[in-house]
Parts: sequence; C-alpha cells; structure tokens
Amino acid sequence: MAVIIDGKEIAAKVREELKEKVDAMVNSEKRRPCLAVILVGEDPASKIYVRNKQRACAEVGIAQELYTLAENVSQESLEYIIDSLAQRSDVDGILLQMPIPQHLDPKRALAHIPAEKDVDAFLPENIGHIMRGDYGFLPCTPAGVIELLHRYGIDPDGKECVVVGRSDIVGKPMAMMLLHENGTVTICHRHTRNLGEHTRRADILVAAAGCAKMITADMVKEGAAVIDVGMNRDGEGRLCGDVDFASVEPKASYITPVPGGVGPMTVAMLMKNTVAAAEKHILKEKKCYEQRG
Ligand code: GUN
Repeated sequence: MAVIIDGKEIAAKVREELKEKVDAMVNSEKRRPCLAVILVGEDPASKIYVRNKQRACAEVGIAQELYTLAENVSQESLEYIIDSLAQRSDVDGILLQMPIPQHLDPKRALAHIPAEKDVDAFLPENIGHIMRGDYGFLPCTPAGVIELLHRYGIDPDGKECVVVGRSDIVGKPMAMMLLHENGTVTICHRHTRNLGEHTRRADILVAAAGCAKMITADMVKEGAAVIDVGMNRDGEGRLCGDVDFASVEPKASYITPVPGGVGPMTVAMLMKNTVAAAEKHILKEKKCYEQRG
C-alpha cells in the first residue's frame, strides 16, 4: 500500500504561505503582485485552467488581469498586447495560456515577454538558468513535483530517477532538476527501446508522456515513488494520468493521484513565481531609486 501524495493539501499550504508573504508585501511596500493572463480563443480546457489560476490568485491576494482575445486575433495584435503589459511597472508576471491557435507563432509571441515577467519559465533565458542550477523562475509543473518530493521527505540524492517524456516544459527541466538534486537520471521517450527495463530501475519514476495509463504495475519496481504528471481522459471520458493507478498503487511506496496530485501544484508554483517576480521588481525599483540618489 502506497502513501497517496496529497497535492491538493500541499498546494493549499503553499498558497497559505504565499498569502502571508503577499500580506506582508502589501503592508510594508504598499504593492500587490499582479499577474496578467492572456487567453486566445475558446479552448474549453484552457478556460478551465485559466479559471483555476484566477481562483488561486484571489486566494493568495495576487491581483490579476485577464485578456481574452478572439480566436482569429493577428500575431501583431497579440504581440502588441504583450508589449504593452511588458512596459507596465505594475504588472509582475505575464502568462500566455497555451495552446494558442494554429495561425499564431507561440515562440515569436513568447519572445515579447521580458524574462523577469516570464512566470511560466518558458523563455530560453529562464530555461538556460536551469541547466546551470542558478534558478530564476522554474517551470511550474516540474517545480511542483520537486516541492512534493521535498514535503514528503523523498530525497532524490543517489537514487535512480527515470523521467518518461521529454517535453520542453516538463520532461527536460524535470530531469535537470532531479540531476541538481543529485539523482541518477534517465530520460525515456517514444524512441526508447524496452521502456519497462528502464522504468523498473526507478526509485523515483516521473510519468510525463501524455499517454493514458501507460505505466502499468509490471513496469514499476517494488517500493518506488511514482509521480504522475499525465492529464488524460480514459475510454469512458474520465480524467486519468499516465499511470495505471489501480495496479501500480499496491506496489509503490508513494504515488500521486490524478486528479489531486501534481495538477494543483502547477498552479501553486505559478503563484510562487509571481510573488517572486514582484519581490524582484521591488528590489530593482529600490536599487534604481538609490542609484538616482
Ligand atoms: N497550458 C497548459 N498548461 C500550461 C501552463 O502551465 N502554462 C501555460 N502558459 N499554458 C498552459
């Protein structure tokens, strides 16, 4: 029987801790962190994600602005809005909800977000910092996984860590962060031969492939900590992860459920990045002020 890692509870704790920080900031600096969210089009899943982010902002005390753009918005108009948010000193974080419609170029649009407002940590500058271990912003999902490991006392140091999935925003940074935690890290992907041979070595197994219930009990070592980043629908339309929870849970020492595992942590880490962005802006403004005399 595994310990079920309660991402909902830990995310609530993180939000509570951040609220205290924000209250102190409002008291001492007379300034509230502010997150601007841009939603393009009508994707129903994106609308739900954005609503969750708005709710979390309200709970933590972060001001938020939502820009809802039409499905057929032009690249130029999207970039114009990002540019105007980039220039505003009262906006600490800018988030472009993904995916955006096919006719738009996400990399070109993201390049208009200044690195210090890139609270998703999607920009090459922030991704590059992860390689060197001098963390600025961390991508929210892998940061949420690390937070869960820490809070449950699961230390990757010296352990076999296997990440299934190599996306830019989860798999790759996840592997790098586990490496900085002194894990011995393997990244598996769709070209990996004998996937089970790799996953069965894992003391910590992170499933982030986006493939419903692909990790089955025979692929997991007895006593492994299993972290499920997947968010899929099964044959009956029910939300499920990349891990076949029912068969894997009896074999694991720790396991995250879907929903209620990694998902809530992603939003909590976005809040953490936004508060950190505001703290950095305050520091920068103070330095500018001092330099001007
Ligand atoms: N779409 C799904 N997850 C995310 C996320 O974490 N950030 C952004 N910007 N878009 C997403």
